[in-house]
Amino acid sequence: MASIPSGWTARLQATSALLQSRSRQRTYRTVEQREGMRVRVDGSELLDFCSNDYLGLAARTSNYAWKGAAGSGSAHLVSGHTVEHVELERTLCAWLGAESALLLSSGYQANLAAITGLCGPDDLCVQDKLNHASLLDAAQLAGCVRRRYPHLDMDGLQRQLQTPVSGLKLIASDAVFSMDGDQADPAALRAADPDALLYLDEAHSIGVLGPNGEGIGREHAHLRLVTFGKALGTGGAALLGSAALIAHLRQTARPSIFTTALPPVLAARTTQHIRTVQSGDAVARLTSNRAYLRQRADALGVPLQGGDSAIFVLPIGSDADALARSQQLWERGVWVSAIRPPTVPEGTARLRITVSAAHTQADMDTLLEALAV
Ligand SMILES: Cc1ncc(COP(=O)(O)O)c(C=O)c1O
Repeated sequence: MASIPSGWTARLQATSALLQSRSRQRTYRTVEQREGMRVRVDGSELLDFCSNDYLGLAARTSNYAWKGAAGSGSAHLVSGHTVEHVELERTLCAWLGAESALLLSSGYQANLAAITGLCGPDDLCVQDKLNHASLLDAAQLAGCVRRRYPHLDMDGLQRQLQTPVSGLKLIASDAVFSMDGDQADPAALRAADPDALLYLDEAHSIGVLGPNGEGIGREHAHLRLVTFGKALGTGGAALLGSAALIAHLRQTARPSIFTTALPPVLAARTTQHIRTVQSGDAVARLTSNRAYLRQRADALGVPLQGGDSAIFVLPIGSDADALARSQQLWERGVWVSAIRPPTVPEGTARLRITVSAAHTQADMDTLLEALAV
């Protein structure tokens, strides 16, 4: 490849040095082998307590034989929309009680599609301060008027909704906050303004909360995001809403229009996983594992926060301390990554611990023993 011009080399070196000096450098780890939550990573045998595979479906092997096309070949609006996509849309709508669905290749992209497809410069998008980065980025890309309210503060939401605009209002919130594990209240969000559209990102609630993992937004949200890369164990995402809303997004959402459709193989596998969730006991096992971890952490005096979802948090504070704690756990055979800014606010670095239906009680005991040291 061509050599990098010197100005750019200096830029790369300065960024790397800054990140190193602040304990903020991030590294890829290579998973060499996986059997459920037991993994070999860079030569170490570990228990995985940091993936979002809440139902243990991502690594599950099956006899599923795929005979269809691997790729879609083009965008949905060109020639990339296949029977596998239609089947997945139908399955999602029937499961989650929506009229229509729009498929995308990731949750990040789906958030960009939802907000840029709905909001323009005259509109107001009000968001929880701790919403996922993709929701915040989406509003910026939409060029709308942006306001954020303090985490879960419904008075703050009311205040921000008073911002004068000539267009329409959209409220966007995570259903379960990805780095804290706590929940939004969809009824309160909906009640905040009868004229605002409520968009709920259910990335961490689908497959985890609600009857048989249906999430928490069915009754109150107008538009919901379902991601496939977490509890559903594949990859990709869908926006679910009324026929009119989804039809509008099909015409207006550039992150959907100008991209290759989700590979049919992934669509088909996701449909299969949804059927597994609907007919099996994985959600119940996850619920019971969440309760076990909560109860044992309390009994042992381990200061874990959370348990209202599959996400638990051990607050640490400094970036260097969070890295050191993560390394200590690694040495005891437990994989928990350190979460640092900008993923979380300054001074709130933490260990984010996720529990799965695929963990055993012995796995969780191992985690707690390592945390108690
Ligand atoms: C709340 C939330 N929304 C959206 C996303 C993006 O989903 P995906 O990983 O499918 O791009 C994530 C993933 O990290 C998330 O936590």
